[in-house]
Amino acid sequence: MGIRITPSVLNADLASLNSEIARIPSCDAVHLDVMDNRFVPNLTFGLPVVEKVRAGTDKMLDIHLMIAEVDRWAPAYAEAGAESVTFHIEASDAPVKLARELRSLGARASMGLRPATPIEPYEDLLGELDMVLLMTVEPGFGGQSFLDIVLPKIRRTRALLDKRGGDIWLQVDGGVSAETIERCVEAGADTFVAGSAVYRADDPDAMVQQLRSIAESCCH
Ligand code: DX5
Ligand code: ZN
Repeated sequence: MGIRITPSVLNADLASLNSEIARIPSCDAVHLDVMDNRFVPNLTFGLPVVEKVRAGTDKMLDIHLMIAEVDRWAPAYAEAGAESVTFHIEASDAPVKLARELRSLGARASMGLRPATPIEPYEDLLGELDMVLLMTVEPGFGGQSFLDIVLPKIRRTRALLDKRGGDIWLQVDGGVSAETIERCVEAGADTFVAGSAVYRADDPDAMVQQLRSIAESCCH
């Protein structure tokens, strides 16, 4: 199982995104949190900013859409050249159609779940997906504490993915740090968003490397 570290820039300087991204050369992808103050009680940035980020980096872009009416807005992020687009299942009216559309536009299709949303009703959707994102905080803000209550769902999702076979990534997002990443790896996650842990570190790139080495050295 490959380990991927995909830092969130939510707690970086949002007015200087390209130079903030240049500070984490060791990352596997850059996680961009799009919020609309409807699906979550916070507002960040949208497509025009993502397009500028795309023009300024060759890193894989991992777009996390925390927006209402996501079926309407998500395809444009794939068209803008993002390699991965996550829609929240709670915000999608037609997730099968949306996942197929994202893939047809050349992006990886990813489904996000809030902490209290179960994975089981969506088992049949897994074949349409390249990644499942499990929120380990309530979405909306960086810097919150990791919710251990989600660990059993990470385990159950890992079991469903293993049963299916293939290579669907399992990402965790929220409160992931040097203290909590081991629990996530043990539960079966392989792709890790860390926002404040990375950007509040004195050396963000060293933290990316540290998270990777903790994750790679446990459970292997
Ligand atoms: C929260 C976002 C996360 C957030 C993670 O709603 O989806 O990506 O930036 O930040 P930390 O790692 O600080 O919890
Ligand atoms: Zn996120």
